[in-house]
Amino acid sequence: MTIARSTKLTIVGAGSVGTSLAYAALIRGSAREVVLYDIATAKVEAEVLDLAHGTPFVGAPRITGGSDIELVADSDVVVITAGAKQEPGQTRLELAGVNVAILEKMLPQLVALAPNAVFILVTNPCDVLTAVAERITDLPHGRIFSTGTVLDSARLRWLVAEAAQVAPQSVHALIVGEHGDTEFPLWSTATIGQTPLPEWTDSSGSLLFPRERLESLTHDVVHAAYKVIAGKGATNYAIGLSGARIVEAVLQDERSILPVSSVLHGYRGIDGVALSVPSIVGAGGVQRVLDTHMDHREEAQLQHSAETLAASIALFS
Ligand code: LAC
Repeated sequence: MTIARSTKLTIVGAGSVGTSLAYAALIRGSAREVVLYDIATAKVEAEVLDLAHGTPFVGAPRITGGSDIELVADSDVVVITAGAKQEPGQTRLELAGVNVAILEKMLPQLVALAPNAVFILVTNPCDVLTAVAERITDLPHGRIFSTGTVLDSARLRWLVAEAAQVAPQSVHALIVGEHGDTEFPLWSTATIGQTPLPEWTDSSGSLLFPRERLESLTHDVVHAAYKVIAGKGATNYAIGLSGARIVEAVLQDERSILPVSSVLHGYRGIDGVALSVPSIVGAGGVQRVLDTHMDHREEAQLQHSAETLAASIALFS
């Protein structure tokens, strides 16, 4: 990855997600400077030291950090990972109360220190927090959004790739909607290479993805985080990589199409709710939200996702 001018990525929160994102950003060269900020001084300083010791193996990027919030000053991108995490069996929406309170306390100060930054929320429920964040910061649309279902789409692509025995990069399939229990796949436009996914056959010519297989894949994606959390207490590596990927799209002005979550205004009748739909991500954040083909089933699922999130967002308006 060749990094353009000096770019500063600040990650707020030195927990497993924030440190995994920092680690991924250093290895991928997502930004010239990676700053890790957390209020827990000993923890964040130890994480920075441990990451810095590896920098001779990662090329140009450098890492600094600490518990002084002034470290955030003049960041180009600020990624927020701080907050309570899902306990086994807990839904992401159940975290809203505690994490909205943390965000309301912290975000105004972060925006004051980095007024030109793009803000990317990872903390859950990321869709609800994105809507709350846009309300309390008055940042223009696109300058604050969340990782949304980029991670869920990666999970889907991996599962389909494993079944079809192809590279995940050749699976073009998206999860959209809530980053949560009402998320759903856009099967109607999913392809493997140029082949519509429902038409994909194995080497014997048998269809590999009949409806019941698609249902089972959807279940596995929706429940993936619960399964990982039950086994190891948290998810961190894939969300860290997802976050680094999105940061690169912003800092490199890639204009990549990614299913990030931003507050929708007049999108298929959805207003004031943040959820994931394919969006052009580049300099300045979300540059454009794309009106994407959906069949009737998917359209209904989108509305259900929006209604679910609207009910949660209303609690914090
Ligand atoms: C997950 C967390 C990031 O889906 O919500 O792993």
